[in-house]
Amino acid sequence: MTKLHKAYIGGQWLAGNQGSFEVDDPATGEIVAKVADVSLEQVEQAIEAAHQAFGSWRRLSAQERADLLLAWYHKVGENRQRLAEVITLESGKPIAEALSEVDYGASYLRWYAEEAVRANGRTLPTLPGGRRPMTLKQPVGVVGVITPWNFPLAMIARKVAPALAAGCTLVIKPAAETPLTALLLTGLAEEAGLPPGVINLVPGTDAATIGHRLCTHPKVRKLSFTGSTAVGRILMAQSASGIQRLSLELGGNAPFLVFDDANLEAAVEGLIASKFRNSGQTCVCANRILVQRGIYDPFIRRLKTRMASLTLGPGSLPGADLGPLISDRAIARVESLVDQALEAGAVKTLGAGRVGEASRYYSPTLLESVTPQNPIWSQEIFGPVVTVTPFDTEEEGIALANHTEAGLASYLFSDTLSRAMRVAESLDYGMVGINEGIISSATAPFGGIKSSGLGREGGQEGLDEYLETKYLCLGGMG
Ligand code: SIN
Repeated sequence: MTKLHKAYIGGQWLAGNQGSFEVDDPATGEIVAKVADVSLEQVEQAIEAAHQAFGSWRRLSAQERADLLLAWYHKVGENRQRLAEVITLESGKPIAEALSEVDYGASYLRWYAEEAVRANGRTLPTLPGGRRPMTLKQPVGVVGVITPWNFPLAMIARKVAPALAAGCTLVIKPAAETPLTALLLTGLAEEAGLPPGVINLVPGTDAATIGHRLCTHPKVRKLSFTGSTAVGRILMAQSASGIQRLSLELGGNAPFLVFDDANLEAAVEGLIASKFRNSGQTCVCANRILVQRGIYDPFIRRLKTRMASLTLGPGSLPGADLGPLISDRAIARVESLVDQALEAGAVKTLGAGRVGEASRYYSPTLLESVTPQNPIWSQEIFGPVVTVTPFDTEEEGIALANHTEAGLASYLFSDTLSRAMRVAESLDYGMVGINEGIISSATAPFGGIKSSGLGREGGQEGLDEYLETKYLCLGGMG
């Protein structure tokens, strides 16, 4: 087993006490690596290492931490192609998307290197008796991080960069489907000079046990998780025992509203970009397409033509627009969602289902006549399936858009500024794309409301998630 297949704990690359687990290539199903499977004791060892390292890491100057983050950013840049190939190998996403994920992930390292030096407290007006109040921003402590397979690099960078900038140390549990990118990224952090124990990586298959320990260990002061709402609920309950701080980026059910006054071409292109990114496997993918009656027919005609032009193929094939879905389970779930939707009255007007018997390729599928009563309405599809519902008035469009428990991303297309602002303000979501299908950026606060989670990642808000505010009151000042 090479170094980059092992766990990284306290600056050591270690074999897993539970043996190893297999990682496959979603394009072929072939096993491409065996990776260390950590035990509970190793998770505790990693927490201890992060706790040990916290004392010195937090005491570095903000500029020293920033310099190390920048060094890591440059290492990622130097290894851009290599990282992208590993992302494609284990996640299946097209190489062009993998390259843009590397850039996207790296942008968090750079942005938070620059922001590290701005974790400012405040001095407040003098209190009666001449007392001087002030606030300090201090790191939360050891942070547990649990990341998904759909962005194996960017979801780690988005959590780790602000945490390191703030002065926290980390234990990271990458998704079992995609540990290889996380290992390579960690190897680059080591090369960049991050001190031992500052980041620790614990790949493993027993997600429930690892997650439970990260939630309940008294030395872990915060948990940051991206994944399903169902798992988020469990982690939230477990974190209650230690009143641990939480950031939860959970499932979405994004509405994509197209009004009669929208630019048709921009709306279709925005939908293609949002819906088919990573073959529909993102939390912010357009999930329910709501189209005003006056533009419905031309919109559907144009959409069908664009969907039919998308190329399916292995992620390594230049020009592939859609790769395979991540696993056999994932494609079986999409098949079942579509079957249920058709039984409940949806009409399939494009799509040939699974391509080849045992493959994980699912052809772009268009379902029309989807109503809020249809079971697919309340499901995060996580596949290349477009569901469409017509509406008449602006009020009806907004009501349909908000008719869900989720509140992550939403999108609207309209060329009337007053309508765009009115609708954006009425949408019960953490994020709204206005005439834009791709909204994620290191500079902006990414996150949801309602059952889509807590906290924000990116931007200034993303740094605050890893900082405590301490109030000091100086008496005896005369
Ligand atoms: C996600 O699917 O949760 C992340 C998508 C993004 O960062 O754009």
